Amino acid sequence: MRKTIVAGNWKMNLTAAESARLARELLPVAATLNKTEMWVAPSFTALWAVKEVLGTAPVSLGAQNCHWEERGAYTGETSPSMLHEFGCSFALVGHSERRHVFKESEELVSKRVRGAVAHGLTAVLCIGETLAEREAGETESVLAQQLKASLGGDLVRSAEKLVIAYEPVWAIGTGKVASIPEIAHAHSFIHSVVEGLEFPQLPILYGGSVTPDNFSDILSVPTVGGALVGGASLDAAKFIQLLRTSEGISENRAVA
Ligand code: 13P
Repeated sequence: MRKTIVAGNWKMNLTAAESARLARELLPVAATLNKTEMWVAPSFTALWAVKEVLGTAPVSLGAQNCHWEERGAYTGETSPSMLHEFGCSFALVGHSERRHVFKESEELVSKRVRGAVAHGLTAVLCIGETLAEREAGETESVLAQQLKASLGGDLVRSAEKLVIAYEPVWAIGTGKVASIPEIAHAHSFIHSVVEGLEFPQLPILYGGSVTPDNFSDILSVPTVGGALVGGASLDAAKFIQLLRTSEGISENRAVA
């Protein structure tokens, strides 16, 4: 049984010194985890400082985006082989802020997924509908289209190299968490699309206003493989509470 993933996406929030401080506070807990994988995605300029703090601790270090080519004239981008060389094990791809603020197209997201996987990184493919799409009853068609655009074709069907993060756009940073039935429905739909694309079972995370108060309910949904957390992961006490909740719930799951 795969461990529950609790991934912190620190976005463009912490300086290198602040990121190192947070990593230092999280470090003692990392070594105590049995049922949980702890992942962190600091900003690019903080990767080095966080890597130094983490040392050999069992924490996966990742980037918040990545290009698909190894090198070239792509000002402002970072290549997947550079991230892999640095020691990153994963990269977020297609985050809603990339799609909506920076207008990254499905084509770009798909290339980034392929580039990450081809160069030894796990791609965390972020998908999710906007409020307008949900209200128009388009949630399933949006999720299916995002999944098919990025996971179709000749992408290697490996469960090790791909994680899906379901992050409804309207729940990100808003304090409005999706309801348990909404999460359960979206996650089983995602599972069915992924299966239809002939992938093995992939971990599917939930993201969007996850806090220590709502996390155990979210994890009670059997198809939820963990969480991608923004705001709450910037606070050491909250991040640690999320990890502890995961340890407790995952323990019960294993027993059940
Ligand atoms: P919040 O947890 O702040 O809503 O952010 C979610 C997110 O975007 C994680 O990638």
